[in-house]
Amino acid sequence: MNDNKAPGQNRLAARISGLVIGALTVFAPWYISGPQATLNRGIFWTYIITGILMMTVATIALIWRRAFWPAWAFFLLTVWIILAPDTLSSAAKDVSVMHILLGVAGIVVSIFWIRRMFGRIPRDRPVVKGRTFAECSSSERTLYGLVMVVLGLGYCMALGYLYLTHAGLSGKPGLSVQDIAITYYGNRSGTRLEMALRGQMRDKISPDEMDQVVAWLKSGSTEDVYDDSIYPIVMKDCAKCHSKNSGKNLADYTTYEGIIPVATVDHGLSIEALVKLSHIHIFGIGLVSFVLGFVFTFAALPEWFKNVVIVAPFFAMVTDVATWYLTKWDPVFAYTVVVSGLILGSAWGVQIFVSLYQMIFLPGKRGPDTKPVPD
Ligand code: HEC
Repeated sequence: MNDNKAPGQNRLAARISGLVIGALTVFAPWYISGPQATLNRGIFWTYIITGILMMTVATIALIWRRAFWPAWAFFLLTVWIILAPDTLSSAAKDVSVMHILLGVAGIVVSIFWIRRMFGRIPRDRPVVKGRTFAECSSSERTLYGLVMVVLGLGYCMALGYLYLTHAGLSGKPGLSVQDIAITYYGNRSGTRLEMALRGQMRDKISPDEMDQVVAWLKSGSTEDVYDDSIYPIVMKDCAKCHSKNSGKNLADYTTYEGIIPVATVDHGLSIEALVKLSHIHIFGIGLVSFVLGFVFTFAALPEWFKNVVIVAPFFAMVTDVATWYLTKWDPVFAYTVVVSGLILGSAWGVQIFVSLYQMIFLPGKRGPDTKPVPD
């Protein structure tokens, strides 16, 4: 027991372990989604589960400071990471190196935690009152102001991109909840081919042939049925317009590859695309929320309000990403996606505008750097 240690040193230890935990939680998902994930399903799930366990242990330990069992749990987990059989046998060398680095980092963190367990860090630390923008130096305010403006601009670009990629999907101009539903759920009311045959192209085909084509669509649009019975119909009725040498610049339906885009039901984004989009989103939005939230902590406002506005983007990010998957299952969740987006946008908006306003208009008492320099 050594409670007389210099507090500065203890805080440093706590901060370093915090940093390492942060690095780990960033690295773990990156490495579990790496190329090795495709090697083997079993290994893939091991990575996912290890990653989730590590993050859970780290989170519990950070929130519940007095419980030190997480340190031991983390320690055992990382020893297991190093000793896991595929570390040593894995064909991919860089995977093993990553494994070992991660494990070593985990042990370093555990050691910091376990040290704390023996009372190296005093538990009753003095309450530190936060600074406001008025107490920040002018160089700090310059940096914070610029980052707010740049990230705000980035957010506008993101909105523009959202509009350009989603607007009009439902056939109606502008961006609607229906467009969001179509992105994730798809347009499952039927195939474009069937719609065309029942609509614009109705007079190009006999009712018997139409039944055949529709039966093919309903049975899953397979290639052998196309070759046997659909290809002849296309050649007879459609090829004079829908083929390469028709000279009409229409889609070519005389090949299976050519017709398949209009012959399959649109199920929206694939799970693979969603997972890819999710990890980009979570990293991006997580980091932006951190930077904006950090600057916003300097605002002179009631603590409870600041807390709500700081938590909101993280909360909205989770519900947003989670409801993409739910929307794929049932389009009604498109509303939740939209509401999450609104919460995220408004929280970021408040953070940016309040911070910029207070930085510029409420300088209050200035830091020492604004005192006249004696000459
Ligand atoms: C006389 C020329 C002609 C013939 C014959 C013809 N089409 Fe078309 N088809 C068109 C034109 C032109 C369009 C584009 C219509 C538009 O965009 O408004 C079109 C559009 C389509 C579309 C919609 C494409 C999309 O991207 O949504 C489908 C599907 C289609 N045709 C299928 C067929 C089938 C199947 C046949 C044969 C039974 C056929 N067409 C026969 C001229 C023809």
